[in-house]
Amino acid sequence: MLEQNIEGIDFFLDLQPKLENFKDAVIQGLGHDIKYVPPKFFYDTKGSELFDKICATKEYYVTRTEIALITSIGSDLQPLIGSNSSIIEYGCGSSLKIRALLSILKSPSEYFAIDISKLYLIKTVREIAKDYPSLRVGGICADFSDKIVLDQSKGPSSINRLGFFPGSTIGNQTPDLAKILLERMSATLGSNGQLLIGVDTKKDTDLLNQAYNDKLGYTAQFNLNLLTRIKRELQADLDITNFQHKAFYNENEGKIEMHLDSKEVQNITIDDMVFSFKKGESIHTESSYKYTEGEFSNLLNQSGFSLVKSWSDPEELFRIYLAKVK
Ligand code: TRP
Repeated sequence: MLEQNIEGIDFFLDLQPKLENFKDAVIQGLGHDIKYVPPKFFYDTKGSELFDKICATKEYYVTRTEIALITSIGSDLQPLIGSNSSIIEYGCGSSLKIRALLSILKSPSEYFAIDISKLYLIKTVREIAKDYPSLRVGGICADFSDKIVLDQSKGPSSINRLGFFPGSTIGNQTPDLAKILLERMSATLGSNGQLLIGVDTKKDTDLLNQAYNDKLGYTAQFNLNLLTRIKRELQADLDITNFQHKAFYNENEGKIEMHLDSKEVQNITIDDMVFSFKKGESIHTESSYKYTEGEFSNLLNQSGFSLVKSWSDPEELFRIYLAKVK
């Protein structure tokens, strides 16, 4: 059965997400005209630790601004969401965000997190279950970009579902894929459903560039860790010191691009496959799209939602949208 009993939590569903093979993905991406590696491979144990450090840097305003914003909009948000909501979080990142949300809502009755990493998911939801004894807590192991149907009798109540998708993770998809993901969310949340989603805003280029080039170098380490993984896990012949972190705001396309730039003419060899690099040629590792209020409201509108309200911090660094399923 897909439903499992896990000690310490009320519900667990393992939808057995297909784990993409790291080696196949790297070989495919490095063989492409414009070389790339999908960003999901950033998050091994070291990558996740470095990501937490990025979130705490002075330059990376996203995490701290979003948490403060959730807290400050509490009295406005509470009546719009009502009581007895069933919260479904897409990805269980920093539990500080869900804790901030739980503390402002009026008697939420359920919390379910969807995450691809089973062990991390169980650990996170157990901590929430322990700290919020009256809340019904569950985990759903799935790839949140897949279609997710939650009609299990013991799963999230279908009456008052609130999707929660913080961190501007939606920005790491191209707008086309973001639309598909939002459409899937609207189907999962159902006719009374609402979505609370955090999105990074378009802003001064220098501020954006600084956020992805922190002085302590954690973002650089995070990006370069992908090469460490390729070298160690795929026994690749590769000189990591010949690559450098590059991140910049592409103003035309409204996105941060993150790359690993080759400092010299060189090769990466995996088994008998040789991938050659020119000087300055790069591996594209991630994009982070930024949206104006108008652009993101339109995207919601085209994806099965209508905007209820949105809020920003006084400096307009970040925006949170509440939308309801049409
Ligand atoms: N989604 C966030 C963003 O794009 C967090 C994030 C994902 C991130 N990958 C990152 C932040 C790499 C810094 C570096 O900002």
